[in-house]
Amino acid sequence: MASAAKLTFYCSAQEDWCQLMANKFQDATGIKVNMTRKSSGETFAQVKAESANPKGDVWWGGTGDPHLQAAEEDLTEPYVSPMRSELNDWAISQATSAGDKTIGIYSGALGYGYNEDLLKANNLPAPSCWKDLTKPEYKGFVQMANPNSSGTAYTTLATMVQLFGEDEGFQFMKDLHKNINQYTKSGSAPIKAAGRGENTVGIVFMHDAVKQAVSGFPIKVVAPCEGTGYEIGSMSIIKGARNMDEAKKFYDWALSADAQTLALDVKAYQVPSNKGAKTSPSAPDLSSIKLIDYDFKKYGSSAERKRLLKKWDDEVSTLPQ
Ligand code: G6P
Repeated sequence: MASAAKLTFYCSAQEDWCQLMANKFQDATGIKVNMTRKSSGETFAQVKAESANPKGDVWWGGTGDPHLQAAEEDLTEPYVSPMRSELNDWAISQATSAGDKTIGIYSGALGYGYNEDLLKANNLPAPSCWKDLTKPEYKGFVQMANPNSSGTAYTTLATMVQLFGEDEGFQFMKDLHKNINQYTKSGSAPIKAAGRGENTVGIVFMHDAVKQAVSGFPIKVVAPCEGTGYEIGSMSIIKGARNMDEAKKFYDWALSADAQTLALDVKAYQVPSNKGAKTSPSAPDLSSIKLIDYDFKKYGSSAERKRLLKKWDDEVSTLPQ
């Protein structure tokens, strides 16, 4: 007797969204889904470590840079979905730049959020720029993730290098380091902590901060005055997937308007890649935010991502605080 169809699903978006996607796909197809949520950089490392004997089938969500690196390192499988015609150009460019080994599923701008009550309680001024966060009065009040594990934090590092130039960008990361109370593993953890009142400022994607605000927490969302970077959240099929047919089924389904509209059920306010997916009026309006022309090809390349992470490890994370 053939065993029941199954899918090993690696997910790097928010935990509740990952769970919802797993459940809804399972309900729609009868394919049994085994989901694991890990951050983008961690999932990349896992897929790489398992490449001789792949365990995962599809990797959905998380920032695009590690997906591009996986494509370049031949860890993922080319696939051209029949759903492509329904997608925005930016989602397809992500695919064509990677030999069809990945594709854009959502996008979102980087920024930060702060807990208004804590800010007032500590007599801190309201920050509005990136550079504000390096001022001495914010010492111990700022949190971000570790760029090795988190795609959000790697996007932050690559954004500073592009926005200010390499030297000034690293100087910014060093100055910021003095104010950081903790580098978390997951990208959105700093703003969840701010929502709970355990941290004041969290450097995250703006939609992650909006989620806390619309959930009733005293969080203000900031689009930094200097401008900011953004992500193309991506999806890839793992090379040598044991459940290749199921992986492709998930891939096609995840690109559909209906599947992408599920995001709203868990207040995931990214911009969906399917042009027909619904969006929320609460979602950050990317056209009103000063976005840099983020060079995904360069900052998603294996050599550049390794180089920047090593430099951050050597020159920033080791500094005293
Ligand atoms: C959050 C965001 C996503 C992003 C992801 C990256 O879940 O909502 O838009 O892709 O973080 O996660 P990471 O833990 O790798 O920073």
